[in-house]
Amino acid sequence: MKGKLRLDSFDAMMKGGKNGATFVPGRPDTSMLLARVFLHPGAGDLMPPKEEKQLSEAKKEALYTWIEGRPIPASLAKTAKDGLKSAPAKDDANR
Ligand code: HEM
Repeated sequence: MKGKLRLDSFDAMMKGGKNGATFVPGRPDTSMLLARVFLHPGAGDLMPPKEEKQLSEAKKEALYTWIEGRPIPASLAKTAKDGLKSAPAKDDANR
């Protein structure tokens, strides 16, 4: 809310935050949202903030794949949903 960004509905997510859209479908390379999620844990701009619960590697991968506009591989979707702490991205061959 402080960043004027809501991620709890598709419409709000597409509208973006105080700096506008945080991603363009099909362009993960230009996405500010992905950039902040994939930052080094020590970086000040990391999202969620470092004192908050972090996304698992599987969730980050699933988010990237979704913004890319590709189907999320079933095993990755399952792993992300299960909320495992860090799942290896073993579906690279299918993406
Ligand atoms: C996966 C979860 C999250 C994602 C993808 C995310 C992403 C982002 C992005 C992209 C911005 C910049 C918005 C803009 O400049 O237009 C932002 C800002 C912000 N977020 Fe998050 N966020 C997440 C979770 C959280 C949580 C859990 C908190 C606090 C408990 C939080 C607090 C903030 C604050 C305070 C800002 C404004 C200050 C700043 O830009 O650093 N975020 N977030």
